[in-house]
Amino acid sequence: MALPTKPFAPSCDRNSGPILGVLRRHFADRRTVLEIGSGTGQHAVAFASELPHLTWQTSDLAESLPGIGLWLEEARLPNLPPPLELDVSRPWPATRYDAAFSANTLHIMSWSAVQQLFERLAEALADDATLAIYGPFNYGGRFTSRSNADFDAWLKERSPVMGIRDFEAVGALARSAGLQLLEDCAMPANNRTLVWRRAESGRTRTLRDAREAEPPRPDPPSACSAGS
Ligand SMILES: C[S@@+](CC[C@H](N)C(=O)[O-])C[C@H]1O[C@@H](n2cnc3c(N)ncnc32)[C@H](O)[C@@H]1O
Repeated sequence: MALPTKPFAPSCDRNSGPILGVLRRHFADRRTVLEIGSGTGQHAVAFASELPHLTWQTSDLAESLPGIGLWLEEARLPNLPPPLELDVSRPWPATRYDAAFSANTLHIMSWSAVQQLFERLAEALADDATLAIYGPFNYGGRFTSRSNADFDAWLKERSPVMGIRDFEAVGALARSAGLQLLEDCAMPANNRTLVWRRAESGRTRTLRDAREAEPPRPDPPSACSAGS
């Protein structure tokens, strides 16, 4: 039987540095991070080695866990516990985290899974938790680049439930989980890192409240901008 090979995503190699710049600022006072959809495990190794004060908990669907395990075994970092099997559409472990991170997952999951992700985060995050999400987003209902429009078309060919999400719609879900936008950072290759902080002692808002509170943002900020 062939031995499993360590998965490698060139995009993780390219985007780890820019994402780390954002996490250094926002995760400086955090202790336990839940990563959702860890993929290969490369981000976890890159961030856990540079941010040793964090315990970085990887997670993903069952089929990704062996590959993540290979990266973690090779890295041998004390702040990288074994990966958790976690499907955002199923019940989560009861542990609470003071931070969560996810990269390139919202456009892969169906919209109903994205909604479930935020519902579950509302339970899994501590009262003052920080959430950082990396990936492409649309603003004001528009793609921010030709390459993002092409990527969205390619995703939808693979599966009609996939697609680049609207910044405003994701923001409304975050608000409904009691999260307030702190920063929206431009990243290379027309991606963003969005950072929220839980502001209301875990009190969740209805999605309608949250939508009404979400300000329209017709264009993405060109660098990092504070949330309103
Ligand atoms: C495009 S990959 C991104 C992987 C990694 N975060 C990265 O940036 O390279 C999307 C990841 O989302 C995971 N995923 C998809 N649906 C999921 C779900 N319902 N629950 C948890 N993870 C899911 C996939 O298994 C995959 O690892």
